[in-house]
Amino acid sequence: MKLLVFAGSTRQLSYNRRLATQVATMAREAGAEVTHIELGDFDVPMYNADLEARGTPRDVVRLKELGYEHPAWIICAPEYNASYPALLKNTLDWISSPIKGDPLWSDDFRATRGKVVGMLSASPGALGGLRSQSHLAPLLLNLHFWVAPTNFALSRAGEAFDADGKLVDERNQKRVRAVIDEVLWAAERLQRR
Ligand code: FNR
Repeated sequence: MKLLVFAGSTRQLSYNRRLATQVATMAREAGAEVTHIELGDFDVPMYNADLEARGTPRDVVRLKELGYEHPAWIICAPEYNASYPALLKNTLDWISSPIKGDPLWSDDFRATRGKVVGMLSASPGALGGLRSQSHLAPLLLNLHFWVAPTNFALSRAGEAFDADGKLVDERNQKRVRAVIDEVLWAAERLQRR
């Protein structure tokens, strides 16, 4: 199963980037074909329809293609002001916008429709960024993703990783693994239809 993994943070020492790295490692161990991307590697401007009318930016096309090629996605979302960061909204807004004048990409949500997505979050706070996920889920449903009901919010993220970026607590590793397993399980079944 082809799984796309990314975090909604570009911060160098980001907990969500570390969590995404753990997800990628564990998903590979579970047999998935993982593409782990860093949103910071993509040159994506703030969405503007005037800009789009002049041509979809090359890196947005790359993101759309990556999305389309992967039936399973996992997103690690930071929590900003009890919601998810603008980086994730901007990325998903661009991804969901059809490429004007291109029949291949004229179908709205081609990159996201019918894909399975799992959500995780990490925060130094006690709720682990859970409120980010509560806002992210309706957006993902609106993009016609199948959102995995099993999710995970990593609280006290400052103490959760060792120096190598590995989750120290086995219970947290199990919770991450549960999200991965459910996403892969559901994506396999959806592909069979
Ligand atoms: C935060 N942070 C935060 N944390 C949280 O648990 N609930 C919240 O509502 C917020 N709000 C918030 C707003 C803004 C503007 C910032 C910059 C930060 C703290 C946030 O969880 C923390 O900075 C994380 O470390 C961000 O995720 P990464 O970059 O470590 O992945």
